[in-house]
Amino acid sequence: MMKLVFSNIMQDVIGKNGLTDNDFKGINTQKIQDMILNRTSPELAFLDLPEQDTTAIKEIGKYAGEFENFILLGIGGSALGPRSILEALSPFHNFHKQPKVFIYDNVDPATLKNILDTADLSKSLINVISKSGSTAETAASFMVLWQKLKDLSLPPERHMVITTDPEKGNLRKIVREYNLKSLPIHPGVVGRYSVLSPVGLLLAETVGIDSNELLRGAMYIGQRCLSAGLRENPALLFSCSLYLLEKLKKRNITVMLPYSDRLKCLSEWFCQLWAESLGKEQKGLVPYPSVGTTDQHSQLQSWMEGPENYVVVFISVEDYGTDIEIPHVFEDVEGLSYLSGHSLSELFRIEQEATEIALAKNGKPNLTISLPRIDEYHLGQLFHFFSIATAMTGFLYGVNPFNQPGVEEGKDLTYGMLGKIGYEPKKEEFLNYRKTKGKYVIEA
Ligand code: PA5
Repeated sequence: MMKLVFSNIMQDVIGKNGLTDNDFKGINTQKIQDMILNRTSPELAFLDLPEQDTTAIKEIGKYAGEFENFILLGIGGSALGPRSILEALSPFHNFHKQPKVFIYDNVDPATLKNILDTADLSKSLINVISKSGSTAETAASFMVLWQKLKDLSLPPERHMVITTDPEKGNLRKIVREYNLKSLPIHPGVVGRYSVLSPVGLLLAETVGIDSNELLRGAMYIGQRCLSAGLRENPALLFSCSLYLLEKLKKRNITVMLPYSDRLKCLSEWFCQLWAESLGKEQKGLVPYPSVGTTDQHSQLQSWMEGPENYVVVFISVEDYGTDIEIPHVFEDVEGLSYLSGHSLSELFRIEQEATEIALAKNGKPNLTISLPRIDEYHLGQLFHFFSIATAMTGFLYGVNPFNQPGVEEGKDLTYGMLGKIGYEPKKEEFLNYRKTKGKYVIEA
């Protein structure tokens, strides 16, 4: 069972930077819960993902599993979820398992060249993921690989699977026209809330990760998050705590700090979810991706003594599934001998707790999500927990946690420069900018 430890955000534990029971009483939790239960936004469709039928995903996963390589094209919510699943549940995958997985979530030509130099396309399945079917980065890489397949006389209907909206968009049109294999993303499920849809589950099934266990974990936590009572509902408690710490204590940075290399990508996935969902209308919380213990030697100084605006969210792991003992060597070296006989997981866990204590002692609010182990079931819980908590936090701020208007301007300017019809004025704006850009420059 996943646990949420919130002692270190309470005033009676950490002093004046903490919250009181009274602070929580100021929030209408029933209202937030009603918004969830009554599905006030169509984008809350992600709540139903745990109940989906996985037959088609499993079938295509089996087919994909027969290839030597699985190349995923996607960006943002269409890439971070699958990558988090892979890194958490099949670490160092490409060193010992097949199909080898390549996730191309950018338009860096050097990366694509490296992928193409490594993966023989005749032995590859390409999974193109784009809910909208119009994202420039994914569209560009899709077009490049489509042509490469053609050049090699490899049929796209054998080498491609498209994961997109069931009805709309360019990709769906192409699926129909060329009779390609495809999986649907429910129209109401927004990219960053889609990890437990075919977006993440196809890769899972392809590499032998049980998608039903991911969904079982999600289903469990989903039910736990239905109650309006703060002490019974971990997602509501998480949201209200971070919201109140910002409103009452000006702590607007959420540091996501798992003590596991396997959850490093999950930390990035969370940050995308948190940033794109909450940072709008000059409100919200700013995420910071991290990993312990590594960032104890990088960021911790700032969290401890820097600006008073952080809340650290630890993810601790009770059982790493493996352990390594630190041997009895150099016993005559006093500065090293204290380590002998302990294990790496013991050191890991103690450092995590020591950091918790040190922060709390210095009055720095922190929360701990404690996981029994990293497996399908608990990872499913984490994904669904954070997704629900993010939606709730958006509702607390009164912003729409499912849109991202702030990314449109840059997209429109790009369209303009690349000659997309209807965006001509944007091209002019772009070129004018280039003229003024050189006003303040120094040559180095
Ligand atoms: O969360 C989101 O909606 C975005 O981050 C999208 O996932 C991202 O922009 C990619 O969109 P699409 O899947 O439509 O290509």
